[in-house]
Amino acid sequence: MRSLSWSTSHAVFVTEIDDEHKEIFEAISNLQIALSRQTPPGETGQLTQRVIARIGDHFAHEERLMRAARYGSLRWHKQKHDSARARVEQFASRIAQGDTAAGLELVEYLASWFRDHTRLADLMLGAFLRNHQRGLYKMTLQAGTKPIDACAWFDSNGNQFDPATRNSGY
Ligand SMILES: [Fe+2]
Ligand SMILES: [Fe+2]
Repeated sequence: MRSLSWSTSHAVFVTEIDDEHKEIFEAISNLQIALSRQTPPGETGQLTQRVIARIGDHFAHEERLMRAARYGSLRWHKQKHDSARARVEQFASRIAQGDTAAGLELVEYLASWFRDHTRLADLMLGAFLRNHQRGLYKMTLQAGTKPIDACAWFDSNGNQFDPATRNSGY
């Protein structure tokens, strides 16, 4: 079994993505503990649904960020998400049919998949988002001839935004 703990070796240095990864690792770990303790099926079922829901929300979130920043490797990255989505669905249907081995197999699969995915695909995405954010601020500052408070801020889609309320950029 691979490690189920998030560590700095999984960091992509975009706070909101790292926070979601930590939650996913924790949810997978909770499921693994419950399965190893012969927890009642209803409870492990809830923990399984929690893992699946968090992963679904997280993939959708990363894909929104990629589209907003016009990330060139969006298709490649989304294909990785889609293949994991398909595998998770297969495990979920085996679990729903009462396959007792499927829960631990799901945990093993996800532990391995997230470890590899965060350290390559998500790390690349994090680097791109940070550079993209720096580029936006630099362009706006270079273009500004008025006092900074009098300048309007626009994102790459031409939508005005308030940088003070934009948490960590992405
Ligand atoms: Fe991802
Ligand atoms: Fe991710």
